[in-house]
Amino acid sequence: HSLAGLNTFGVSETAKYFTSITSVEELKEVLASDIFQQNPWMMLGGGSNVLFTKPYDGLIILNQIKGIELVKEDESNVFLKVGAGEVWHEVVLHTLANGWFGMENMSLIPGSVGASPIQNIGAYGMELKDVFESLEAVEVATGKLKTFTHEECAFGYRDSFFKRAGKGKFIITSVCLKLNKSAQINVSYGAIQQVLEEKGITEITPKAVSDAVIEIRQSKLPDPKEIGNGGSFFKNPVIEEDQYLDLKEEFPRLSGYPAGKGFVKIPAGFLIDQAGWKGYRKGNVGVHEKQALVLVNFGGNNGQAIIDLAKEIQASVMEKFGVEIQPEVNIIG
Ligand code: FAD
Ligand code: EPU
Repeated sequence: HSLAGLNTFGVSETAKYFTSITSVEELKEVLASDIFQQNPWMMLGGGSNVLFTKPYDGLIILNQIKGIELVKEDESNVFLKVGAGEVWHEVVLHTLANGWFGMENMSLIPGSVGASPIQNIGAYGMELKDVFESLEAVEVATGKLKTFTHEECAFGYRDSFFKRAGKGKFIITSVCLKLNKSAQINVSYGAIQQVLEEKGITEITPKAVSDAVIEIRQSKLPDPKEIGNGGSFFKNPVIEEDQYLDLKEEFPRLSGYPAGKGFVKIPAGFLIDQAGWKGYRKGNVGVHEKQALVLVNFGGNNGQAIIDLAKEIQASVMEKFGVEIQPEVNIIG
């Protein structure tokens, strides 16, 4: 089965077996099947955080569990149970249209709702954890549906239980989101304020924030429909404060964000840019000309070429700054 069209990097690898599910019952049937029992398997949502580097020798399960249900409501909040196969950005627009707020800073993040807890997606000052109430997932070993609380998910920066001890053990089937009935504007991210000011918007609504975020994203991130990519290829590294202060002396434009006592998170995009990679192209792969953290595929089956480029970039950042950068994208193969 071809995986072209099922991953935003636009690589055209194949999978030995492929199926899609639209309900928990269908998922349980797949789990009980011989093909599942006897082969490697992986869940696939929007394919916007995966890079296939060779044919997948197992079963790919495409999540298409849909549905948005208002399960609870009180004076200040609504609680929505959302099927894992819903498209994240469509849910953001749906909530805005209904006057339910909290997701607007995370407008236009590609992918499915079911993948959102895995790396605790985030952008422009907010993370999934800020609107997360709970989730349901099927435990692969037992076939049982389990509920996970906020605490059990152990969310961190681009991190959760599902990338650590829970990796490969659970299939997320729905996520319960807790949204506000009144607007809680967060324009802490400078670029949002800048766009609002440029447009002369003084009455800041969640819709205005969403529109501004969409505009910023479209101005620097490549549209996967035009150029294959997986968003930020690397995570922003967390380094010791002493090393940060040394680097800051040498590179005064380096920014840093507190990341726990004695640690600072620094932008990998700045490091890659300063190392001279921005706009680099080799064959049909390269580094986006407007955002050095985004590796791009200009066309063709280039998973391995992207990995080779990523390794060169990692080595060059290590040499110039003494900082290790790790992939955010899930490399399959
Ligand atoms: P996939 O790529 O399909 O899967 C990702 C991983 O999750 C895989 O390991 C997969 O096996 C696993 N998985 C998927 N669904 C399930 C499930 N139901 N149960 C268990 N495991 C599952 N991310 C951000 O955080 N912030 C951003 O601002 C951002 N911007 C991006 C911009 C662009 C242009 C692109 C292409 C990507 C961006 N990303 C960003 C990354 C991506 O949008 C997120 O990681 C998103 O959550 C991936 O969702 P998906 O459905 O496409 O996951
Ligand atoms: N920078 C450069 N050169 C570049 C790119 C960035 O100098 O080519 C500098 C910028 O000037 C800025 C800093 O790096 O000072 C940060 O850049 P930006 O605001 O674009 O954010 P980022 O750190 O590169 C992160 C997330 C994005 C998210 C944005 C907005 C990670 C790994 N990436 O990017 O998430 O959308 O912030 O909040 O944390 C993703 O995860 O796929 C993703 C796109």
